[in-house]
Amino acid sequence: MKISTSGTTIDQQKKDAVILFFQGEKPLIDKTLSELITLCSELIKSSSFKGQSGQTAVFPLAGQIAAKRLILAGVGEAKYFDNGILEKAAGAAIRAGRDAGATTFAMPSGLPIDGMDDGLYRLLAGRGAVWGSYDFSTFKSDSRKTKPLSLTFAGKFTSKISITYATEQGAALLDTADLANLPGNEAPPEKIASWARIMAKQHGMTCQVLGKAELTKKGCGGILSVAQGSAQDARMVILRHKGTDPKARPIVLVGKTVTFDSGGISLKPGKGMGWMRYDKCGGMAVLAAMQMIARMNVKTPVVGILGAAENMPGSNATRPGDIIKAYNGKTIEVLNTDAEGRLVLADALGLAADLKPRAIVDLATLTGAVIVALGSAASAVLGNDETLVSDLIAAGNNAGERLWQLPLYKEYSDDMKSDFADISNICKSSSAGTATAAAFLQEFVPEDIPWAHIDIAGTAWLESAKPHQAPGATLFGARLLAQWIESLNA
Ligand code: BES
Ligand code: ZN
Ligand code: ZN
Repeated sequence: MKISTSGTTIDQQKKDAVILFFQGEKPLIDKTLSELITLCSELIKSSSFKGQSGQTAVFPLAGQIAAKRLILAGVGEAKYFDNGILEKAAGAAIRAGRDAGATTFAMPSGLPIDGMDDGLYRLLAGRGAVWGSYDFSTFKSDSRKTKPLSLTFAGKFTSKISITYATEQGAALLDTADLANLPGNEAPPEKIASWARIMAKQHGMTCQVLGKAELTKKGCGGILSVAQGSAQDARMVILRHKGTDPKARPIVLVGKTVTFDSGGISLKPGKGMGWMRYDKCGGMAVLAAMQMIARMNVKTPVVGILGAAENMPGSNATRPGDIIKAYNGKTIEVLNTDAEGRLVLADALGLAADLKPRAIVDLATLTGAVIVALGSAASAVLGNDETLVSDLIAAGNNAGERLWQLPLYKEYSDDMKSDFADISNICKSSSAGTATAAAFLQEFVPEDIPWAHIDIAGTAWLESAKPHQAPGATLFGARLLAQWIESLNA
C-alpha cells in the first residue's frame, strides 16, 4: 500500500473512499469541517452504525464531498479506548472499503482525541490500514490479483516521519506474515533460516545460522533435544542490525520458533493441533521487528535470535525422564516433551547472554496457561528488571499491543526443582504455568542482565475472522518491540 500526504482537507479528496473515525456516535473530525459532520450525522440516522469498536459502515455518496464513498469506522466508547482499537479500526475500514470495490482511500491527518499525538495517530492508522489490506493467499489456486491500494492523509502536517514509519513497518509486517502463516510442511527450520538470510541481506543486516553440527559443538542440548524426534534438523538463526554506535551494547531479541509442536512423545490431543504451526510466532515477531528496525535505521544495535526446531515424536525423540544439558551447562530433566519451547529458549538465552547485551527480551507462544489467565486480551510479561518491564508495557500501550505483568516469585523457581537434574522442565504443583515457565527461563539468564519474557500464546494468531484481519498470524510483539527500540534513540 502506498501512503502519501495531501495539504488539502479531507472533504476535498477525490478518492474512492474517505475514512472517518467515530467514538461511539461522536465524530472524530476537526470542528471546522462542520458540513462533513452534518453529512455524517444524517447518514448515521438511517443506519445501524453505533461507532462501536470494530464496527464499520460504507455509504455511497452522490457528490456531497469529493470522494465517492464515506466509510465510518468505530473505535468504541472513550473509556475503553486504546491505541490498538484505533489501529484495528483503520484496518477494518480498509477491508470494508476494499470489499465494496474501493482502492484509493483518504483519512484525516490528525485525530481530535485528548492525549493523542498526530504523528502517533498516523503511524497507528497507516500501519493498521496496511495490515487490513493483507490476505494470506499463497495456497489459493483461485486467488485474484487484487489491485494495489493507496492511502492519503489529508490536512495539516508538522512532521511526516510517521508516514515513513507506517509504510516501512507495514511492509515488514506483510512480508513476515507470508512466512508466519506457512504450515509446518512448508516452513521447516531450514526454510526459516534461508528466509532470514535473504531478508537480512535485503535490509543491510548480517545473518549467521548454526546448524546441527555447530549446535552440537557448542553444547546446545536444549534445542537439539527438541529437534531429535523430527526428520527436520534444528537451526539457530542470529540476525544483526549494526546501528550507528559501534561501541553501544546491543539489545537482544529472542524468539521461540517451533515450526510445529505436536507435543513430541507427550503428544498433544488431536483437536486443534493444526494451530501449532503458529508455535513459531515468537520468532516471527522477532523477524518482523528486526526488519522494521533495519528499515527505520534505528541507532541502537539489535541482535535477533531465533531458535527454530520441530517437535515431533519420531523414534529418536526425547523421552519423558531424559536428562539433557543446556548451553550454559545446567542439566534439565525433561518430564514432559510438550514443554519444549523453554528448552529451545534455554540455549537461545544462553547465547544471547554471551553478547553482553544491554537487555534481552524473549517472545514465545510458551504456555496454554497464559490463555487461561488473560485470554487474547493481552500478553503476559515477566522479568528480572522492573524498569525494563515497565518500559515494555508503555511501548505496548503506545503500539496498541497490551502487556500485563505477572510476578516472578521465588516460589515459582522452587517449584521447578528436579530430583535428578539441576532443574525440571515442568513444575511440581502444576499451577501458575506461565510464571513457572518464566522461572525456568530465568535460570538461563545471568542475574545482572536486564531480561523480560513475553508469553504470546493467547495473542499470536486469530482462529476466526475479525473485522480487521482474517484468521492467521497477528505478529503480536513486533509493533511494541519496534516502538520500544526506536524510543531508545530519544
Ligand atoms: N506451544 C505450547 C503452548 C501453547 C498452547 C501455545 C496453546 C498456544 C496455544 C507449549 O509448547 C506447550 O505445549 N506448553 C505446555 C506446557 C506444559 C506441558 C507444562 C502447556 O502449556 O500445556
Ligand atoms: Zn509444547
Ligand atoms: Zn510449543
